[in-house]
Amino acid sequence: METVDWVPEGVDLDRPNAARVYDYYLGGAHNFAVDRQMGDQAIAGWPELPMIMRANRAFLRRAVQYLAGQGIRQFLDLGSGIPTAGNVHEVARAADPTCRVAYVDHDPIAVAHGTALLRDEPGVTMIQADLRDPGSILTHPGIRATIDFDKPLAILMVAVLHFVSDTDDPAHIVAAYRDASAPGSALALCHATRGERNERAAEHRELYTRTTTPMTMRSRQQVATLLDGYDLVDPGLVYMASWRPEEGMPARPEVYPGLAAVGRLSTR
Ligand SMILES: C[S@@+](CC[C@H](N)C(=O)[O-])C[C@H]1O[C@@H](n2cnc3c(N)ncnc32)[C@H](O)[C@@H]1O
Repeated sequence: METVDWVPEGVDLDRPNAARVYDYYLGGAHNFAVDRQMGDQAIAGWPELPMIMRANRAFLRRAVQYLAGQGIRQFLDLGSGIPTAGNVHEVARAADPTCRVAYVDHDPIAVAHGTALLRDEPGVTMIQADLRDPGSILTHPGIRATIDFDKPLAILMVAVLHFVSDTDDPAHIVAAYRDASAPGSALALCHATRGERNERAAEHRELYTRTTTPMTMRSRQQVATLLDGYDLVDPGLVYMASWRPEEGMPARPEVYPGLAAVGRLSTR
């Protein structure tokens, strides 16, 4: 087993973990041998994976830029991963330095790093919690100190709901956050789908059964259901690379098999 000095007590270093494998795909430093091994195995079967993860990250950035441009000043990022460079608070605060951001992740490594990274960022917080328990997050003192639920906010659920199984009823979970949001609030969502790479997607899902966070890919219809109650802004629910791309429409957006959308609640 790898020995490192920055790991919080009780963290299982024998099993790969989604937050750290994702960090590896993005070229980060917060991962272990067991995560890199799984990442390399996944990349061997699906070489475009790092590119897909970067496309997801680019969607997150564009969605936050868009929402900040629409006047949203509070962001609740559920399943944020490790908030390293280019994360939500940096993007939002480039638009307006008064933006407030709360990061939530259930992974102790992500939270240990996030807390250290955010120490000198007033108005930005990170807590360790499971998004499947909206009550604990919506009443958490750290969240309440950062986010004012009486004002419009953006809920971000980017590349995370595919780690919530059908038995946990993701639609019900998303609805709990929606119902706690003020009129005019938003949801930005990106969710793994099979796209045209059915076999690769199935192998990939199989790999994740080894992690502490198995994966459930969903169809367009299933993802659309998660957005219930929100009015989707243009271009609606699309492959993530097609959501308001900066440099023209990608030639084959289905190569990036994540479905993305931003929705708003009506203002009254
Ligand atoms: C693929 S990463 C996405 C990170 C970030 N949202 C992005 O798109 O760049 C998925 C993150 O969701 C977290 N996660 C998975 N299930 C979760 C849960 N039930 N509650 C909170 N976080 C969760 C993982 O720990 C991981 O950090």
